[in-house]
Amino acid sequence: MTAGPRITVGVSRDFLDDHGRNVWGDIRLGELDAAGIAWHYLPRDTGELLAADVAGLDAVLFAAPAVTERTFAGLDRPPLLFARFGVGYDAVDLDACTRHDALVTITPDGARRPVATAALTLLLATLHNVTAKDRLVREGRWAEKDRWMGRGLTGRRIGLIGLGNTAGDLVGLLRPFDVEVIASDPYCTQETARRLGVRLADVDTVMAEADAVIVMCVLTEETRHLIDARRLALMRPTAVLLNVARGPIVDEAALIEALRSGRIRAAGLDVFETEPPEPGNPLLHLDNVVLSPHALAWTDEMSAGNGGSAVQAVLDVAAGRVPRFVVNRDVVGRPALADRLGALAARAEIRTVLDTGAGEPAARAEGGS
Ligand SMILES: NC(=O)c1ccc[n+]([C@@H]2O[C@H](COP(=O)([O-])OP(=O)(O)OC[C@H]3O[C@@H](n4cnc5c(N)ncnc54)[C@H](O)[C@@H]3O)[C@@H](O)[C@H]2O)c1
Repeated sequence: MTAGPRITVGVSRDFLDDHGRNVWGDIRLGELDAAGIAWHYLPRDTGELLAADVAGLDAVLFAAPAVTERTFAGLDRPPLLFARFGVGYDAVDLDACTRHDALVTITPDGARRPVATAALTLLLATLHNVTAKDRLVREGRWAEKDRWMGRGLTGRRIGLIGLGNTAGDLVGLLRPFDVEVIASDPYCTQETARRLGVRLADVDTVMAEADAVIVMCVLTEETRHLIDARRLALMRPTAVLLNVARGPIVDEAALIEALRSGRIRAAGLDVFETEPPEPGNPLLHLDNVVLSPHALAWTDEMSAGNGGSAVQAVLDVAAGRVPRFVVNRDVVGRPALADRLGALAARAEIRTVLDTGAGEPAARAEGGS
């Protein structure tokens, strides 16, 4: 007697470079091996997962490809888990996944610290004029260094737009600098803000009072161009604006104008309205901006954190449990999901008995001496 596999897992191919190496390094797939769970990279790199890509799989661990209605087309038994490596799910049609009883998970525990440290990096790099000073050295303009006096962080007032998971971690990282933190987040409770030692205020107040405004909120119709020309005009001329969330939250044309005119001091951007930015984008030529290709948070810490979290979601469903960070909660508790999780749990139990040999002499015989 042999046990069926506990669960069949596909990993999206965009993790691999041209040489077949995982560009993220160690994303903890070894924990699937250790649990005896079979996994493989999907045969093709695709911008959209089609039904043929995921047929026969119970779970898909993925980074970039879109999940749409076509992912489920014609499948009797589509995957019951789409575990996204990362926290954004703009490319996932959640309604389609919910219609097909498929769970979608994200990895906020993995992104939290790396995004917070990316924000801190941009903040310090911007205040210390890293772009301009890097250029001075490379271009043999050493003597011009006295034109780029920086600003210290200690004792300043930091304004956060959004006080969620990543912003909450940044607040802790800022503590040694004795800063005051104010934040605008209509969905954050006073209790959460008080626990973090943050004063809640409306967006205009944050823009007007902060020495550095850091955009860390989710992109929605409500936050699209939340930071527009009028709000940029409220900022102190010595203040800096940073965005580590999503490009369209800031009106980029208005930001360029504010930077060019000296209306604000500097900007630090990990994200853009169009990614990558067009070669003619004026931001690329300004000395008072620090830029990063939506990857400042990409570190081995993020690989292990996002990977470990997504792998844990797979391990959870393999054991018949609902994973922790499900975004389409409507699926949880549905009979169809309960049935499939129950079947996986039963398979896992059979496997455990076989693996340990307990009460199953045939398995021991099969396993050799
Ligand atoms: N640069 C990167 O590599 C990277 C990585 C991870 C996440 N992100 C982005 O950062 C964002 C924040 O991540 P998170 O993990 O902290 O998410 P989160 O969901 O924990 O926090 C988002 C916060 O935005 C708040 N918000 C909603 N509407 C708002 C509004 N009108 N004004 C102000 N705040 C508002 C929410 O209440 C929430 O507290 C994500 O949505 C994602 O777009 C970027």
